[in-house]
Amino acid sequence: MKALAILVAAGRGERMGADQPKAFVPVAGQPMLLLAARALDAAPSLDGIVVVVPADRIADARQLLGGVRALRDVVAGGETRQDSVQRGLEALPPGFDGVVLVHDAARPLVEVDLIESVIQAAVEHDAAIPVLGLVDTVKRLRDDRVVETLDRSELGAAQTPQGFRVALLRRAYDKAFRDDVVLTDEAMALERLGEPVMAVKGSARNRKLTTPEDLAWAESLLLSEGHP
Ligand code: CTP
Ligand code: MG
Repeated sequence: MKALAILVAAGRGERMGADQPKAFVPVAGQPMLLLAARALDAAPSLDGIVVVVPADRIADARQLLGGVRALRDVVAGGETRQDSVQRGLEALPPGFDGVVLVHDAARPLVEVDLIESVIQAAVEHDAAIPVLGLVDTVKRLRDDRVVETLDRSELGAAQTPQGFRVALLRRAYDKAFRDDVVLTDEAMALERLGEPVMAVKGSARNRKLTTPEDLAWAESLLLSEGHP
């Protein structure tokens, strides 16, 4: 049983407002994509990484990731995240039938322990994702009015990496494309098939860097830990 990762980094990063694709924006001096790839590289159960970047950044990414041992391929992404994941699935080695992880380059601070726990749970249960419990009281809104308070103990925020038997993810993705459904994560594709997905513990550190405020948070965290 092997595990491979698809690292999606082909977004534009509009909410970050940077002058280059978000994955190439440095966090305390290191591009997000490099930090995310190194984190995956450090996970002992992961055998390879396929990186998905904007078509005109393939050569840059290959150079940037030269020191990432597990790097297998760098391929061009698509218009949406879902298209980029699909390109990554197409780039996996033929005959691969292990567990595939899908990770956002926009989560560069992911811990090795979290990656390993997703892989182990996916090997055992076929599908697993990290979920972070919520701390705020959560309301359902309609037109700026509070409708009700939801039961927080039943809710959580989905993170990446998300791990699946590759055949299961392919089947779920093919159905989502056939049905013209827009996915915001991989687990959603399986939920539509009624396939069970295990939740493992997510982490606050594994926050998705979306806005300049998120970037400032990540930089101050890395600097406080002594990164250059
Ligand atoms: N992604 C991708 N291909 C796309 C869109 C997104 O590979 N067509 C990747 C991003 O590079 C990112 C991850 O999916 O690592 C999560 O997406 P998000 O945080 O929304 O990043 P962007 O789409 O780049 O940002 P924005 O939505 O603000 O433009
Ligand atoms: Mg996006």
